[in-house]
Amino acid sequence: MKLSIAIGLVLLLAHYAASLAAAGGGPRVIIVGAGMSGISAGKRLSDAGIGDFLILEATDRVGGRIHKTNFAGVNVEMGANWVEGVNGKEMNPIWTMVNDELKLRNFNSDYDHLANNTYKENGGLYEEAFVQKIIDRADEVEESGSKLSTTLHASGRDDMSVMAMQRLNDHIPSGPAAPVDMVIDYYKYDYEFAEPPRVTSLQNTKPLPTFNNFGDDVHFVADQRGYESVVYHVAGNYLKMNKSGAIVDPRLKLNTVVREIKYFPSGVMVKTEDGQIYRADYVMVSASLGVLQTDLIRFNPQLPSWKIVSIYQFDMSVYTKIFLKFPKRFWPEGPGTEFFLYASGRRGYYPVWQQFEQQYPGSNVLLVTVTDDESRRIEQQSDNQTKAEAVEVLRKMFPGKDVLDATDILVPRWWSNRFFKGTFSNWPIGVNRYEYDLIRAPVGRVYFTGEHTSEHYNGYVHGAYLAGIDSADILIKCAQKKICKYTVQGKYE
Ligand SMILES: Cc1cc2nc3c(=O)[nH]c(=O)nc-3n(C[C@H](O)[C@H](O)[C@H](O)COP(=O)(O)OP(=O)(O)OC[C@H]3O[C@@H](n4cnc5c(N)ncnc54)[C@H](O)[C@@H]3O)c2cc1C
Ligand SMILES: *[C@@H]1O[C@H](CO)[C@@H](O)[C@H](O)[C@H]1NC(C)=O
Ligand SMILES: *[C@@H]1O[C@H](CO)[C@@H](O)[C@H](O)[C@H]1NC(C)=O
Ligand SMILES: *[C@@H]1O[C@H](CO)[C@@H](O)[C@H](O)[C@H]1NC(C)=O
Repeated sequence: MKLSIAIGLVLLLAHYAASLAAAGGGPRVIIVGAGMSGISAGKRLSDAGIGDFLILEATDRVGGRIHKTNFAGVNVEMGANWVEGVNGKEMNPIWTMVNDELKLRNFNSDYDHLANNTYKENGGLYEEAFVQKIIDRADEVEESGSKLSTTLHASGRDDMSVMAMQRLNDHIPSGPAAPVDMVIDYYKYDYEFAEPPRVTSLQNTKPLPTFNNFGDDVHFVADQRGYESVVYHVAGNYLKMNKSGAIVDPRLKLNTVVREIKYFPSGVMVKTEDGQIYRADYVMVSASLGVLQTDLIRFNPQLPSWKIVSIYQFDMSVYTKIFLKFPKRFWPEGPGTEFFLYASGRRGYYPVWQQFEQQYPGSNVLLVTVTDDESRRIEQQSDNQTKAEAVEVLRKMFPGKDVLDATDILVPRWWSNRFFKGTFSNWPIGVNRYEYDLIRAPVGRVYFTGEHTSEHYNGYVHGAYLAGIDSADILIKCAQKKICKYTVQGKYE
């Protein structure tokens, strides 16, 4: 009697294993999202012999937050634009792809001339020496903050905001302060993290592993093929492509919005907006932190509270690149003029500008970057309104010049878009390695990847790429070696 039950069970298991093995000889995995991390995870699985997977992507394209678009006759980048972390002690894997393998046209960004490219609120440049002093002081305080950061207890229990660190150095540039102090502060912190020093963790951003390990240089990708070529480059290793470079692999399904993930001890069931149901052994979710903070994807059963809390403790920031086209140029050109600042009395008001004399010659296009609350405000108003504001700022900066109305404007809306809900993750104060590791930790057969799960490089393209590899490895260990227990070190270990 006992024996027959045992045999029955073995048969049942054998039958189950056989049905799973039928398609590709291994487990079946569903990957949610075809951005850099999802595509990278797919490659790692494929390399490990797990070829039976399905990538479900909500939008009509591959690349996610790396996205070129045609504006005023040139392809510009609405999302990621720079390879950040170049010429350091370690090689940034994205730099290898961009510069060596794909040879994407790129430009080293030189921010060394801001001191004589900083405009007063009502026009004209500040004196170079005056601004240089402010920059030097900000650099000095940052340096001191990096030193302080490395002395803080590794658990993160002594973490503080970047702003608190500034105050400890008797430096209070964030505001209210003079417009020029605020714009330099904005350039140093918000322009990188898309959130102000008040909410950004000192310990986890200074020194920043990206620059510390990969180097201080940042290279702007301006190639008509688009920065997204790096995602296609990774995909090309294992997904079928046709002669024109389109992915034609049946394992990739575009326009497929995942709305529900049911997970059981024996497998997962994924429901999409069009009512389809897909079954698999595992699911790997690569949707952004912003998406995870909404109910676009319902988990059934609900994710455990430790998971929900860790997801909500982290921050999704908003970084908005506004492109403007003009009938003619009125801004300075030549070496040392690429980046310029507007010192408004309202911190973060159209602060950082870039001209594209080198990248898109003759296009008469300017880029202005805003973040955080300004981004959300601007996403909610008409592009006409934004255009009028930006042109008014330029007329103030260049009072003697004939600043004609912009003829075209591009305002990406990453925050409003339900498939992104922001641009990249930023590390808040007091969240330590423990909570961070929980964001990546699997829940049963549900695995997580994405830039927000990257061990050292959250917020970056290389972070997304490396996170895809790491999360795939965790899944592979479980699927192939049956080591499925994932341990996160305790908060104060
Ligand atoms: C404006 C902006 C500027 C940036 N600048 C830089 C930069 O200069 N340098 C740099 O290194 N990094 C930069 N980044 C960050 C970088 O782009 C990201 O870290 C990286 O591309 C994220 O990749 P990912 O795979 O984690 O996420 P994503 O690219 O968001 O991929 C996730 C995919 O999941 C899909 N998805 C979401 N929900 C669902 C669902 N329910 N069902 C199915 N599919 C779903 C999405 O459509 C998306 O394609 C920038 C990002 C933005 C937005
Ligand atoms: C490749 O596929 C894309 C998308 O399906 C299609 O538009 C294109 O014509 C195809 N090219 C070739 C050479 O088959
Ligand atoms: C700033 O200085 C650089 C190099 O010293 C110079 O090439 C550039 O034209 C100057 N910018 C402005 C706006 O004067
Ligand atoms: C924007 O303003 C222009 C004139 O200033 C007008 O012609 C156009 O219709 C407006 N567009 C929108 C979307 O409001």
